Amino acid sequence: MKKYNFDKLANRRNTSSLKWDLEPECLPLWVADMDFLAPDFIVEALQKRVDIKAYGYSLIPEDFYKSIIRWWNDRHHVKFERDWLVYTSGIVAAISSIVRRVTNVGDNVVVMSPVYNIFYNSIINNQRVVLDSPLVYENGQYHIDFNDLEAKLSLDKTSLLIFCNPHNPTGNLWSKVELAKIGELAKKHNVVVVSDEIHCDFVENGYEYIPFIAANETNKEVSITCVSPSKVFNIAGLQSACIVIPDEKLRKFVDRGFNNDEIAEPNFFSMDVNIAAFTKGDEYVDELNEYISNNRKYMSQFIKERLPKLKLIEAHSTYFAWVDISAYSSNSVEFCSLLKQKAHLFFSDGEEYGKSGRTFIRINLATSLANVKEALNRLEKFLA
Ligand SMILES: Cc1ncc(COP(=O)(O)O)c(C=O)c1O
Repeated sequence: MKKYNFDKLANRRNTSSLKWDLEPECLPLWVADMDFLAPDFIVEALQKRVDIKAYGYSLIPEDFYKSIIRWWNDRHHVKFERDWLVYTSGIVAAISSIVRRVTNVGDNVVVMSPVYNIFYNSIINNQRVVLDSPLVYENGQYHIDFNDLEAKLSLDKTSLLIFCNPHNPTGNLWSKVELAKIGELAKKHNVVVVSDEIHCDFVENGYEYIPFIAANETNKEVSITCVSPSKVFNIAGLQSACIVIPDEKLRKFVDRGFNNDEIAEPNFFSMDVNIAAFTKGDEYVDELNEYISNNRKYMSQFIKERLPKLKLIEAHSTYFAWVDISAYSSNSVEFCSLLKQKAHLFFSDGEEYGKSGRTFIRINLATSLANVKEALNRLEKFLA
């Protein structure tokens, strides 16, 4: 007997929701935001804060750090030391701050496209240069081109790699060998690695996410890991995250930057919710993963049977479907715009994630199976 009902969704239209406040007939399966009702332990933690009836400045309780240490120890088999953890009010804010702190204006920052679009903003808005080492798309799968990566990491002006583990949007779960190889190259060429692990709790049964620092000691020396409850518990609106930096010198340097940038103070509502999530959320996350995995299976079967010219990239992590539309279009921006106009269906165009995503779309599967079915029916009609 399941404890959580993922068929029942929150009604988010006209709630100033970035995802849902579109035309009423539009079905939006785009931005990384889930539609499920928040579990009771999240609502209760929020309610407790509401009931205080005074909403001033907050401290970061020790239980915040303890709950993170417990979660990663029990679920991901890696031991975070208390000292390594630094609170911050969001991963994007933290990455932008890290870019400013550990690189100079004009430096190269390496990314592996197609990748989370906001990485580009954090680099460009700070007058650094995006240096892309595109993932190789071969036989329906993505892998890292280590020769190209090393060539880019070895340039004098390269000081940072922003890495995504698991990878948004392709869903790659990187292996220990791949993680170790990245760490080795980073150390050899004196490059800091930011490993954004925000999607790490979305893993299909039978598959494994390996934290970047779990690969070996070198990876601990060279890296900054970003973790957060905001995706898996859908609490991004509460704005909080945690950065894990084993190296003391680097940690103190980055922490100073967070203070300068004023991203080191918690939202009044976030702390108790974070703690509730990481202490009471195990069963919820297990059931959530099962539900999303079923949505993915449904989509995979549908595409195979009814839309065989589309290619769904096989993935066992994140809640995104990354779909190759090259049989229909060479321009995903145009494709998504037409789809929105004609079929009232809103997906993310792949080009947002870099040029290599130009013939792809990204579909958010963190919604009811009924919505996934409806979206696929509309897509089928549109393509016909
Ligand atoms: C890879 C990745 N990092 C970071 C974020 C956003 O993190 P935050 O809301 O903590 O800034 C997202 C949201 O989609 C994401 O996909």
